[in-house]
Amino acid sequence: MAFPQTRMRRLRATASLRGLVRETDVRAGQLVLPLFVTETEPSGERAGHEPIATMPGVDRLSLSALVAEAQAAAALGIPAVMLFGLPAEKDAHGSGAWDPEGVVQLAIRAIKQAVPELLVITDVCLCEYTSHGHCGVLREDSSVDNDATLELLAQTAVSHARAGADIVAPSDMMDGRVGAIREELDGEGLADTPILAYSAKFASAFYGPFREAADSTPAFGDRRGYQMDPANGREAVREALLDVQEGADMIIVKPALAYGDLIRSVKRATRLPVAAYNVSGEYAMVKAAAAAGYLDERATVLEILTSLRRAGADTIITYHAKDAATWLAEQT
Ligand code: PBG
Repeated sequence: MAFPQTRMRRLRATASLRGLVRETDVRAGQLVLPLFVTETEPSGERAGHEPIATMPGVDRLSLSALVAEAQAAAALGIPAVMLFGLPAEKDAHGSGAWDPEGVVQLAIRAIKQAVPELLVITDVCLCEYTSHGHCGVLREDSSVDNDATLELLAQTAVSHARAGADIVAPSDMMDGRVGAIREELDGEGLADTPILAYSAKFASAFYGPFREAADSTPAFGDRRGYQMDPANGREAVREALLDVQEGADMIIVKPALAYGDLIRSVKRATRLPVAAYNVSGEYAMVKAAAAAGYLDERATVLEILTSLRRAGADTIITYHAKDAATWLAEQT
């Protein structure tokens, strides 16, 4: 039956009718808040906070400011934070990444002590810790040595789990890293620690603000030798299936907004929970447009998060998490 018998507008007439037939929802319980913790004393006006110019509203945090932020997130019903560490010193191997007294390891312990029920997810990568800013160790010719990097990533993941991380999330895009991390965790008695694999991670311009925040821009070259070509969807599914074989428990698709097709296809192919990473550049675009008065921030953010859920994301990693949780609580 078509028009005039069928009138799609009938079910759009009132808020109650629209609510009755709404297909997708977003809850604070599906959000993950990324946080930056710094080893050097933050220099901002607010104690323990150093604003990140490219990400208005997001700060580099001292350990105590981090704990306060984690508490605030938990109070809003956000179940998890994802930690990125900014070490005082970097070296060619990124050894700060697996230092038991490193900045992330201290941060994990501090959060788990203060807010035990809040899940701590850690980004497992070397780029914030290497002097050259690449995600792995370099060969003599300056290319990233995949196999030599695996052991360092596995060590890093184990050090995070030992410090109390609930979930480890490798973001380096080396081949075989999920398997290497799973094996090392299991060998160290950490078989119950899940791996959230950044399986479909693209060499994206949308990471620009993050690299400013984490001081992790490669000193030379770019990441196209290990991160994926944004043109490739089938390859993303292959990457995800390989990570499933290696023991991934959950999968990340990253960035999120321009990759909704892959959220859907990766989820369908793997049947694993899928997290969409609403990355720094996506956040920065909304903040800049809102500040200029071009967009309504609240409506835009809630629409974006809803669209990622509609695409199939079970979980959304987003810098908007605290604002979104606040707005969602006001709605109901
Ligand atoms: C580390 C890492 C990056 C992001 C998450 N983990 C940067 C990169 O790969 O260059 C980006 C996150 C964001 O842009 O919000 N490898």
